[in-house]
Amino acid sequence: MSSVAITEIGSLVTNDSTLGHGALGIRENAAIVIEDGKISWIGDSAKFPAVDAALSVAGKTVIPGFVDSHAHLVFAGDRSEEFAARMRGESYSAGGIKTTVAATRSASNEVLRENTSRLVAEMHRAGITTFESKSGYALDVENEARTLQIASEFTTETTFLGAHVVPTEFADGADEYVALVAGEMLTAAKPHAKWIDVFCDRGAFDVDQARTILSAGIAAGLQPRIHANQLANIGAVKLAVELDCASADHLSHLSDEDIDLLAGSNTVATLLPGAEFSTRSAYPDARRLFAAGVSVALATDCNPGSSFTTSMAFCMAVAVRDMGFSPEQALLAATSVGAKALRRTDIGGLSLGMKADFSVLNAPSYIHLSYRPGVDLIDSTWIDGKNVYQR
Ligand code: NIG
Ligand code: FE
Repeated sequence: MSSVAITEIGSLVTNDSTLGHGALGIRENAAIVIEDGKISWIGDSAKFPAVDAALSVAGKTVIPGFVDSHAHLVFAGDRSEEFAARMRGESYSAGGIKTTVAATRSASNEVLRENTSRLVAEMHRAGITTFESKSGYALDVENEARTLQIASEFTTETTFLGAHVVPTEFADGADEYVALVAGEMLTAAKPHAKWIDVFCDRGAFDVDQARTILSAGIAAGLQPRIHANQLANIGAVKLAVELDCASADHLSHLSDEDIDLLAGSNTVATLLPGAEFSTRSAYPDARRLFAAGVSVALATDCNPGSSFTTSMAFCMAVAVRDMGFSPEQALLAATSVGAKALRRTDIGGLSLGMKADFSVLNAPSYIHLSYRPGVDLIDSTWIDGKNVYQR
């Protein structure tokens, strides 16, 4: 078993307040040692123990790898024209999803793999070390299973989202489609999925339909999460808490009652600034959530319609600039709270025994992630102690 030390770290963010100062547990002039893909030692750089190899990152910042708990990576086709039309003033609706469905159904496995692999490489370049990926661009039994199988080649955090929208062929039979999703499609998807999700919103699925589908998924052994309150407040947060969803995502429209419910639950509020940015919608005010004590995560929502970005740093910069996050809250939201949204305790921080998933930033502090918007600060990214991206 070989050991590697990363030394002379100018600023090390551990997210463990027992290891350094503040909620981020920051240490200066630090070193970490990695053994067996995990963090085995953390301390002053001058004192690191004997190792097989040492790499100095003098003056740079090391942060836990970003945990992107909401993405839609397996799809084909291009919707840049839809974006351009929106920027000319057209509004966003759930219906655009159908364009991607047609392209995805007719794409070969090779094309879908290539597309996904390109986005995963982008994510590594962006410092993302764990990502979730949803289906939902196939919407029939065979292709939902096929796209989830492909997603599972890239991540263990796969989510069955057969209930993304009602496909065109069921336009007059939404309840029939709900029964298909909760029945035959779930059975086909289940071997490739860990999570189940529903787009519970205006123009997609109502609360009763979402309850039916999520409950069927839970009964089949999947864990629930939900797209809630992006376009309107139809009561999805209440359902999220009722079903103990790991996360309720988007939350662009929130009542005070929703916030109280989230505060008293184990459901993470996941905000997706890329979606508001790319649909030119109003940003939610995260200060209301923080003030109530809600756990708030940030994710990219990488998808071809409403948020085609893999840049967590961009999402953090928008969250800080326009949603009321401090840079510290944004970093926690993109790392440890993202891990909580996936109910994981082995990622999202750099404590002893955690996965050695981290990024080296070409910057003196993590604050530069939101202080220098649009600037690529990621020098290298490491997963299980292995270098997956080097600038
Ligand atoms: O999370 N809100 C639903 N699903 C995606 C958008 C999908 C699309 O427009 O293709 C989202 O924003
Ligand atoms: Fe989404």
